[in-house]
Amino acid sequence: MAARSRSKTIPLLVLLISILCLYFPVKTTAAVDMLYVTLKWPGTLYESGQCCMPTTGPPAEDFLIDDIKTYDSVTGQFVKNCNPSCRFSINLMQDLITDLYSYWSDLNCPCNNGLQNWKNTWCTYGNCSKLSQHDYFQAALNMSTRANLVEVFKVNGIEPSTSTSYKLRDIQTALMANLGLSTQVECVKSGFLLWERTLLSKINICVSANGKYPINCPFDQEKVTCNDDVWIYPFSSNKLKPCRWAAGSGDHIDMVTEKNLAM
Ligand SMILES: *[C@@H]1O[C@H](CO)[C@@H](O)[C@H](O)[C@H]1NC(C)=O
Ligand SMILES: *[C@@H]1O[C@H](CO)[C@@H](O)[C@H](O)[C@H]1NC(C)=O
Repeated sequence: MAARSRSKTIPLLVLLISILCLYFPVKTTAAVDMLYVTLKWPGTLYESGQCCMPTTGPPAEDFLIDDIKTYDSVTGQFVKNCNPSCRFSINLMQDLITDLYSYWSDLNCPCNNGLQNWKNTWCTYGNCSKLSQHDYFQAALNMSTRANLVEVFKVNGIEPSTSTSYKLRDIQTALMANLGLSTQVECVKSGFLLWERTLLSKINICVSANGKYPINCPFDQEKVTCNDDVWIYPFSSNKLKPCRWAAGSGDHIDMVTEKNLAM
C-alpha cells in the first residue's frame, strides 16, 4: 500500500517541480549575451506609408536605426522590461545627440523629436543590458557606422533605384563581406499580384553583448520575407511631410534639455 501511494506522489512532485522550473528560472536567469541592432531603409518606410519630417531636422539619407534589442541565446528569447522603475535621461547623451538626430530619428507622424522612441528602446530593452544608457545608444550608433550599408552596397553595384531590382543573394554577399554571418535581411511587400514586389526594409545585425563586435547570429537565417528580387527605392528627406510648426527649425539644432525635448 505505502509503496503504491509513493509511486503516485513522485510523478506529482516531478510535475510540480517541472512547472516551477518552467516558470521561474526563465525570469531569474535571463542573461543578455547578445544585442540585436535593426537598421531600417527610409525609402521603403516612405513607400509603405506616410512619413513626417522630424522636428529636429532632416535625418541622414542613409539606413536609420530602428532599435537595439537585448537577446538571451540560452533561452532563445529577447529579454524585455527588466525594471519597472527604469529611468531615461537625455542629459546622459549630449555628446551623441547630433548623431541621434541624424541616424536615429523617428519618421512617424505626427512630426516628433525621437525622444519617446529612444525612451521606449532604453526602458524596454537597454535597461536589461550590461551597458550604461550612454553606451547602449553609442553601441547602436557605432554599429550603424561600422555596417556602413549605403557605401558597402554601392561598392557592390547596389544602389537605390526605381527601375532596377537586385538579387537577394547579391545583397547577402555584399553584407557577408563586411559583417560576416551577423546579418539578416527583411523585406516588406508592396503592390499585389503581377505588381507585387518585395522592398528591402530592414537589416538586422547580431552584436556582442558589450556592443563592440558583429557576431554570428545564433538563430537561423532569414524569416523568408524577401523574394529573389529585391527593390531598394531611393530616399530623399525632402519627401518627408513637413510640419508647419517645425518650419525654420530644420537647419539648426537647439541645445537639448529634458524640458525642450519633452514638448
Ligand atoms: C535599470 O534600471 C534600474 C532602475 O532605475 C537601475 O537600477 C539599473 O542600474 C538599470 N540597469 C542598467 C543596465 O542601467
Ligand atoms: C563607439 O566607438 C567609439 C569610437 O571608436 C569608442 O570610443 C566607443 O567606446 C564605442 N562605444 C561602444 C559602446 O562600443
